[in-house]
Order: sequence, then structure tokens, then C-alpha cells
Amino acid sequence: MSNIGSYEEKVKNFSWSTVETELGYTPGDVINIGWYCSDRICAMGKAGKTALLWENAQGEKKQYSYNDVRLYSNTVGAYLRSLGIHDGERVCLFMDRVPELYIGLLGILKIGAIAQPLFSAFGEDSLWVRLENAGTRAIITQRKHVSKVRKILDRLPELQYIIIVDHDGKRELKEKETAFFMEDEKVETLEIFPTLAETPSIIHYTSGTTGQPKGVKHVHYSLISQYLTAKWVLDLQENDIYWCTADPGWVTGTSYGIIAPWALGVTQCVLDSGFSAEAWYSFIERYKVTVWYSAPTAIRSLMKAGEEPVRRFDLSSLRHLVSVGEPLNPEAVVWSERVYGLPFHDSYWQTETGSIMISNYPGMKIKPGSMGKPFPGITGVVLNTQTYEPITEPGVIGLIAFRPGWPAMMRTYWNNEATYRNKFRNGWYLPGDRARLDADGYFWFVGRDDDVINTGGHLVSPFEVESALLEHYAVAESAVVAKPDEINMEVVKAFVALKPDYEPSAELELDIMNFIRKRLSPLAMPQEIEYVENLPKTRSGKIMRRLLHAKEWGEEIGDTSTLESD
Ligand code: PRX
Repeated sequence: MSNIGSYEEKVKNFSWSTVETELGYTPGDVINIGWYCSDRICAMGKAGKTALLWENAQGEKKQYSYNDVRLYSNTVGAYLRSLGIHDGERVCLFMDRVPELYIGLLGILKIGAIAQPLFSAFGEDSLWVRLENAGTRAIITQRKHVSKVRKILDRLPELQYIIIVDHDGKRELKEKETAFFMEDEKVETLEIFPTLAETPSIIHYTSGTTGQPKGVKHVHYSLISQYLTAKWVLDLQENDIYWCTADPGWVTGTSYGIIAPWALGVTQCVLDSGFSAEAWYSFIERYKVTVWYSAPTAIRSLMKAGEEPVRRFDLSSLRHLVSVGEPLNPEAVVWSERVYGLPFHDSYWQTETGSIMISNYPGMKIKPGSMGKPFPGITGVVLNTQTYEPITEPGVIGLIAFRPGWPAMMRTYWNNEATYRNKFRNGWYLPGDRARLDADGYFWFVGRDDDVINTGGHLVSPFEVESALLEHYAVAESAVVAKPDEINMEVVKAFVALKPDYEPSAELELDIMNFIRKRLSPLAMPQEIEYVENLPKTRSGKIMRRLLHAKEWGEEIGDTSTLESD
């Protein structure tokens, strides 16, 4: 029997206050995610239960009970406090998927500070923009990433501590650096900061079409949504071994890779290693994974690896599969049902929504290619693009919209209230995606309503890549668009006009690619560079990305009446 039981029944009788009661929370009380994910589970008699099974690429293994998570998150909290860090200050987590990242997040939240997880593959420019915007006071990182922090340190006056979790003593600590070993001490008691429902908990950075990345501010009350969605969509149950393949540098990796499973007292496992079909299947076999939350790009890669590796491993422990981050193509659903004996259930949400908004629920009929239906308690519609009124006829494309008010909804963009306000029309929150509804109320994703590139489930801002390209010595102008890709759905493509003294060459192309990889990240690196003499512009001088995008996707170019050269 699934946790949700009947979807229709849950929609009819829904109330968030039932979740509050289940979690022993009364409005106005202290609600602290760090405490809920560790101390509370121990107090429920599960101190000895395994919270985390961890393994890295070298085969090194670690295991932590809920009591370990409680004690070590206390250790992190106490250490940060000893440095003078207090509630409301931003503490960045900049690490690979090491245990310190998962447990550290709880430690930060326990002292009322705000956690700022950032993808450890970010280069110095991506890192700087986000640390500067958040006014981050401390960064917790690993030796291998310190050099990136050092390069930008003098441009970050508010950053006071660089906390290194694996310092080996071989190299001297430099200015502002300090060594910290989470497992040196088990701190039995830590005074939990009395965070309330609206106290900020996490800032996640996400990319838009224009401007710098936006810091999405979440609050401790988001726990209510994350707990229930994980219970009903991921169907997490007492004896599950759960594997979320997302990195906590992105929202899925925190909402459903740290908070939700631990608030439910479930055992989860983490693989700190790159992708290969064999490595993943062998991990599932070794840990007897039962619930698997992954992404379409990974599923497409597994499809590409074929059925032969599937047969070499025992995957019989799997019982429920869920996907998020990009459109899940119907073939992937059909393939997984045939090959694993279980279909992937698509789920749709975003950094700003904080928790799953639309999904295919256990027990509900899956229509391959559809995202499913809104989560109980969520009013989701498709709006007319001009009037912002809900579209009632099935099959008509419009903007996805939600009535605000669910617990995990972002509270604002950090230092950017104007952009936040602009996400609402007629009282609806607009995530910036287009979809259509069918006659049964299922949502079918159509595309984004902006130029943001979704590569393998990660959003990349064309603006950020274009700005970085301009810093390259040979680049005069550029336009960045999405290019179709079989595995990643979209990859970054850059059109580049060179400065007068430079000639196009393959060498220069590589140099530009590497420049972006180092400055921003491997995800933002253009997979292709096309040299052009000039870029298409409007009469007012704005580069027409739309035109280049349409060319890449073989689409109609549409209205070009404002083009410079027409
Ligand atoms: O465009 C939608 C796409 O990813 C965006 C959100 O990205 P991000 O904030 O990075 O969060 C990713 C993980 C929650 C959405 O606005 N997206 C997400 N899930 C789906 C999707 N597109 C199609 N189908 C999905 N299931």
C-alpha cells in the first residue's frame, strides 16, 4: 500500500495543518529543520537507525546513525558558534558529496544561520557572484576547492572564514583559513536557535535569462511541504533505502537529498562519484536501494548503456522510481517499465517552489510524457499568455501557474524583491514554463517561457555565459543559446564574433571553451562555438537570441520586423 493511497481522496480532504500535527508542530512554535532531521528522529527511538550510507569513487565507505548525525551536526553548529557566527548569517557549503556537506547543512540550520549550498564544480566567477550577492560570512570547503576561493578572496570583504574539512597539515593555512574535523568530537548538547516558521533557512542560487543568478530564499517552514511531498510522491517508508542522485549544490539535492528523507527518519545512501551505468547499478545492488530519485539525463544515459549491464546486476530491491529536472520523454518511461519492471514517475518543480508541485503518484495511471497532476493542496493551472486567465479547454498551450501559499514557496529573491514580485500575475505565481492540460487534468510540459538553458537538469543563464565570454581576450561579441542534445536535452552553444586581430581556429575554440569551464563550470561550457562576422540585432542594438535559437532547433523564425538588417 502506498503512503498516498487515493490521490483524489487526498485532494478532497487536504489540509497542511494535518502535517503540522503529524510533526508535532503548533503554529507559533519553534520549527528548526536541523533539529527535526536529527534530534527528533532520535527522540522517536531511532537513534541507532542508519541515516546515511556513504561511498566515494575510491570505494571508501562510511556509515552514520541518526545519533551520529545529531551529534556531528551539533559539532558543526558549536564550531561555527565558536567562530562568532550567529543567526541570519550566510554560511556556504562548497564541497563534493562528502558527509560533512549533508551533516553540515543541519549544523548551520541548528544555530539559525542560513545555509548556502553551491555546486563544487563552480569556477571562481560563478562562486564569486553568489558569495558576493549573499554577503557570505563563512565557507565550508575541501582542500581541492580552496584555490578557487583564494583567487576571489580580496573581492569578498564580508567573507571571514574558509573552513577546510580535510586539512592534511602538508600545506600551511593561509589568511582566513581554518581546519575543522567534524568527527573529532561528538557534541552532546547544542542549544538550538529558536527559529520560527518564517526564519530563513537556505538560499539556493538559480539562473534567469537576464541579470546575475538569483538567490532563492527559503524558510524553516518549508519542511512541512518537503516532508509530505516526499511521503506521498517518493513514497518513503520506514524500511526504505533511498537514493537521490542529485547534488546538494542544487535544490533537489537539499530538499530531497537531505531534508525530506531525514525528516522522515529514512535511511539514505550517497554516491560521491561520477556517472557510469555499471557504477550506478552496482551501487543499487550493494545497498539494496528501494526508492530512486533521479533525472532524465541520467535515465537517457542508462538507456544508451543498454540492457546488458542491467542483466549483470541484481536490481530487484527497487520498488519506486521518480524523476525530476527536465522533460521525461515517454520512451524513458516505457523503457524503464520494460527493463526494470518499474516506470519512472515524473515530478515537476523548481528551486523557487522548494518542493514538488506536479507529479505522477504511486497508484495513479501514468501517461508517459506527462508530468502528472498538481500535488494535493496545490492549485495549479495553465494561463492564457495575454490575459493571465486560466485556460479551460484541454490542449491549449499556456503558462503554468500556481496559487501562492504552500509552505516551501520561496519568500523572495535575496536582495532582489523587484524580480520576485515580477513572478506574479493576477495573484498567480508563474514559474516561467509553458504547458498544456489534457481532458483528464494531466499537465504536459511544452517548454520554458524564457531563454534559460536546461542542460541535463541544470539551468544555465545565457547572460552569465555571454558576460564571461566577453572577458576572453579574443571575443568581441557573443550570443549564447541552447542546442539540442540527445542525452542532456540541451547544451550550451555560443556564437562568437572575434576582435579584429583574431582569426577563427580550432585551437582558439578550445581555449574559449576551457576559459568558460574554469570561470563558470563544466555545465556552462559551450559544447560548440560558431564563429560569426556579426550577430543578428534589433534596431535598438539588442542581440536577437531568438533567431539563433530557432535556427538551432529548425523552427520557424517568426517575426523579424525589428531586425537591424531587414
Ligand atoms: O523548466 C522547468 C524544468 O526545470 C526548471 C527548474 O529548474 P531548477 O530550479 O534548477 O530546479 C530543478 C529541480 C527541481 C523548471 O522551471 N523542470 C523541472 N522539472 C521538470 C522540468 N521540465 C519538464 N519536466 C519536469 N519534470
